[in-house]
Amino acid sequence: MNKIVEVLPDKEALIQRSLTIVLEKLQGAIADRGHATIALAGGSTPKPLYQQLATQALPWESIHVFWGDERYVPSDHPDSNEGMARHAWLDQVAFPSANIHPMPTANPDPAASASQHEAELRQFFQLQAGEFPRFDVILLGIGDDGHTASLFPHTDALRVHDRLVTVGNKDGQPRITFTAPLINHARSVLFIVSGTSKRPALDQIFAPTADSDSFPARLIQPMGELWWLLDQAAGQDLKSDDI
Ligand code: 6PG
Repeated sequence: MNKIVEVLPDKEALIQRSLTIVLEKLQGAIADRGHATIALAGGSTPKPLYQQLATQALPWESIHVFWGDERYVPSDHPDSNEGMARHAWLDQVAFPSANIHPMPTANPDPAASASQHEAELRQFFQLQAGEFPRFDVILLGIGDDGHTASLFPHTDALRVHDRLVTVGNKDGQPRITFTAPLINHARSVLFIVSGTSKRPALDQIFAPTADSDSFPARLIQPMGELWWLLDQAAGQDLKSDDI
């Protein structure tokens, strides 16, 4: 694992730096392999990044978009990660609809939706049994509680190692989420973190020892690059020996 930690002066600089790195990774993947795969984070932090991506002139037909997790709501629901990214970016540019791979949320049984999305990933990446896909970029955030994607503290999803996609649980509300092993197979994982509310969780995530069950973002130790992009408000107090 190659871990890079950058603390940017403010949120705007954080978003601009994130944009630069995402563009570099997407363009590099297209140059090397003819196409790029990216999994998006939900929540509020990445929205301005998606709005910036909508201003770029990229070969959208060579980029495939997935999500690292999804709330179990329709895409037109205000909480939908798919809806947020479509409004901020995907609907603003000429993305072929076949290149957008949302997590399904229509089945009354979230476990069935997780299995359905797993099957879609296996088919798209042409995987052998037991094989994990290598996304070019996976974007992540962290919650104030140290969760990432929909891998919440002390939930069963943290212990799923033989699947690509599973059911997350936020205070009893179902989510669909990439598993930690799937995320850890990515070529580049980018955490984009903003605001003072994230500091206590960051201290635990960066601490030499802490409980991954309590701070699931600690589970993210990718075989590729691990980028922590923080604004000053979030990253100010990180001790250099933890970085
Ligand atoms: C989600 C996200 C989640 C998010 C963090 C941070 O579906 O909510 O995937 O993991 O990244 O909760 O959210 P904010 O960016 O809103 O702080």
